[in-house]
Amino acid sequence: MVDRISADSLTTRRDYLRIVATVSGGLVVGSTMVAAGVLHRHGDGSAPPLRVAEKLPPGEAVAFNYPGEHDRAMAIRLADGTLVGYSTVCTHLACGVLWRKERGTEGELYCPCHEGVFSARTGEVTAGPPPRPLPRVVMVEDGRGAVWAIGTARSGESDESGLCRQLNDRDPDLAARAGCNAIRRGGAS
Ligand code: FES
Repeated sequence: MVDRISADSLTTRRDYLRIVATVSGGLVVGSTMVAAGVLHRHGDGSAPPLRVAEKLPPGEAVAFNYPGEHDRAMAIRLADGTLVGYSTVCTHLACGVLWRKERGTEGELYCPCHEGVFSARTGEVTAGPPPRPLPRVVMVEDGRGAVWAIGTARSGESDESGLCRQLNDRDPDLAARAGCNAIRRGGAS
């Protein structure tokens, strides 16, 4: 069930804490931003986290709209457990991109308009005319296994860089505490 959460509810705060407790390692920045509520303030142009599935088993995908109600997106759990998310608006001429689970070892994202193909693991173009990778949607899993969209990254941008860009725009001090300077120095942005 897709669940757009309210920034002020107690349930929301508990969910924040669960996400923070769960996210670690490669997405430290994301957890810091969730902890600070940076992505959840209404009226500042950012989209609140969106719960897109109660569970997402390996090899399965779920379609949803994020960050806006008309922005088509998809989360995929790869066979090795990796959770990825993408805009499903093709970077060629904006057709809808589809999930083809049965293709290759971990499926692929396919655009039927002109046979565009994107890697399910990275969003990179693997065939056809699309000029750029699919923009990413940053996904995390909470302590109960529910899957959330918490932010976006531009085409070719890493999850961390996308989150840091959004955070730097709105709270540079918090961005520094979240380690965004190191990410920028590392050339990921
Ligand atoms: S619109 Fe997707 S390949 Fe052309």
